Amino acid sequence: MSGQVAGKVVIITGAGRGIGAAIAWDLAEKGARVVIADLDEATAKKTASQISSNGGSAISVRVDVSSRKDVQALIGQTVSHFGRLDVMFNNAGISQTCPFLEVTEEDFDRIMTINGRGVLIGTQEAAKQMIAQGGGGKIINTASIAGKQGYPLFAHYCASKFAVVAITQAAARALAEHRISVNCFGPGVVKTELWEQLDREFIQHGLTEEPQQAINDFSQSILLGRVSVPKDIVGVTTFLASDASDYVTGQTVMVDGGMVLI
Ligand SMILES: NC(=O)c1ccc[n+]([C@@H]2O[C@H](COP(=O)([O-])OP(=O)(O)OC[C@H]3O[C@@H](n4cnc5c(N)ncnc54)[C@H](O)[C@@H]3O)[C@@H](O)[C@H]2O)c1
Repeated sequence: MSGQVAGKVVIITGAGRGIGAAIAWDLAEKGARVVIADLDEATAKKTASQISSNGGSAISVRVDVSSRKDVQALIGQTVSHFGRLDVMFNNAGISQTCPFLEVTEEDFDRIMTINGRGVLIGTQEAAKQMIAQGGGGKIINTASIAGKQGYPLFAHYCASKFAVVAITQAAARALAEHRISVNCFGPGVVKTELWEQLDREFIQHGLTEEPQQAINDFSQSILLGRVSVPKDIVGVTTFLASDASDYVTGQTVMVDGGMVLI
């Protein structure tokens, strides 16, 4: 695998922490030039400077992925710093635990705006840049087990991740003529701050009684017998960013320890 991402210019959104940061670290260690893009400017800066201190090539940019203007500016800054864009990870996302009958219009719209619209805009704007520089490139979107199954406490989140899968398939068909591949990967339960928030929400709704109970209960069906950590994901994400996946497009690669079998 090593070398197949070396020199590539890669944007990763939501890379200040969690899964996005792990994706960026692995790519940078293998020689890619990475752009750490996040709504939280402080964590983006910190991750980029840690990667740079470790010998990697990284810059940080603040972005709200639901804003086309922000995403255009992110791509503009990337191209002015590194000269081009080879790979775009639309990874930023938010979640929320909420019993099905209590999901409000505001809850639905907030999640769809960032997870759904954000991926649409990120895919479109990355593709425009890739086409303008002569074609070729890879777009990789973060789906989920929630993009394959509807879960009763995550209806709006599941809708947003099904949207990610749909946008990925549509974009793969739309962009193949420009030699741009579009894929997504589907994590299961990953121990990040996102799950710490969900764990608190389970308790607030009276669904669980103590910290870690939600993540432990939710993880009972993992065939490999344990919750994942962001490092478990990067074999797949680096593969999708590398030349080794050149003949793969329109796919969702599950990396969930065997929670969803399809
Ligand atoms: N943790 C899991 O179990 C899990 C499972 C499946 C899929 N996912 C998906 O993986 C992705 C990353 O999740 P994570 O667990 O690393 O979460 P996280 O909360 O640890 O990190 C998400 C990052 O995205 C950033 N972000 C949020 N809204 C943004 C916006 N509008 N614009 C730019 N950046 C924004 C946050 O500041 C944060 O740094 C998300 O799309 C999530 O839905 C996570």
